[in-house]
Amino acid sequence: MTNSDAIERYRKMFNSHLESKLIPKDPNNLYEPISYILGLGGKRMRPVLTLMTTDLFGGNPSDALNAALAIEVFHNFSLVHDDIMDDAPLRRGKITVHEKWDINTGILSGDAMLINAYQYLEDYPPEVFKPLTILFSKTAVEVCEGQQYDVDFETRDDVTIPEYLKMIEYKTAVLVACAMKMGAILAGASEEDAQSIYEFGQNLGIAFQLQDDYLDAFGDPKSFGKQVGGDIIENKKTFLYLKALEFAPKEDKEGLMHLYSIQPEDSNTKVDTVKTIFEESGAVEAARMEIESYTQKAFATLESLNIPEKNKELLKVFGNKLMQRTV
Ligand code: IPE
Ligand code: IPE
Ligand code: MG
Ligand code: MG
Ligand code: MG
Repeated sequence: MTNSDAIERYRKMFNSHLESKLIPKDPNNLYEPISYILGLGGKRMRPVLTLMTTDLFGGNPSDALNAALAIEVFHNFSLVHDDIMDDAPLRRGKITVHEKWDINTGILSGDAMLINAYQYLEDYPPEVFKPLTILFSKTAVEVCEGQQYDVDFETRDDVTIPEYLKMIEYKTAVLVACAMKMGAILAGASEEDAQSIYEFGQNLGIAFQLQDDYLDAFGDPKSFGKQVGGDIIENKKTFLYLKALEFAPKEDKEGLMHLYSIQPEDSNTKVDTVKTIFEESGAVEAARMEIESYTQKAFATLESLNIPEKNKELLKVFGNKLMQRTV
């Protein structure tokens, strides 16, 4: 079986499990948005990583299905609330939950998903339920911290690169790391190996969010599935923005700072001007190098792992695919 086939197999396995759990229930206005967002698909990167990790550590991926479900449902909860916070119109190529229904629906359906996520862990025996839940709760609260930094940074003009990196580590990378560590726990991996795979996921997650920020500005609107330029409209202090401030000539730097202090009615000119500065300043190039560097950092953590070389290879294939993704 090729590496791509293996990844596809985990995705299919996960999707059928998800489908078996998505039973329509009353009240419709609580559960329909949940089926809607989960039914829109997405890459299923985190649950695939959970199943893959269990498999690569010699466990049975079927045992990891409920943990993978907990992770994906939590992720989807965070997207519904994130889209409210980011005022986002589009998700996975479709209208966002709070725009299709309303903000209150988004809040409550999101809350129910967060609780459901925990419920999916209830079937595990106590000796794994406990470590899984402890890790999950630690991760969930860190995601909230990351999201708060992200929002706080919108109105700050003195955000640093280390602050940005900490913010994306919390809002995004820790969940990727948690998805993988849960997989390791379910395979009965050693504490050292579980920690190494956590660090792999963390570095891959940082590279992943850097790429997400890049695509938010430069993705193809036809395939990206989200509003291109959304981060610029919302004055998000991304790596591209912070590097552009560092590299751009004085005039562009002042222009950029001004544009990030306003929210003009017509955002097209702002988005176009900012993208030009991102490119001409060398910020885009710097972002590409940073993505590569965190991906390599992730690969380096694989060296100490006690798993066969060919299993490490699959993780590298996965990492390289993520770095080259367009959605
Ligand atoms: C989007 O995550 C939120 C981020 C952390 C960047 P994904 O890009 O994994 O979204 P889906 O699940 O594939 O739609
Ligand atoms: C999202 O970051 C992180 C979480 C949902 C926790 P973004 O705001 O960049 O994600 P997208 O771009 O909307 O998917
Ligand atoms: Mg967002
Ligand atoms: Mg956000
Ligand atoms: Mg984004």
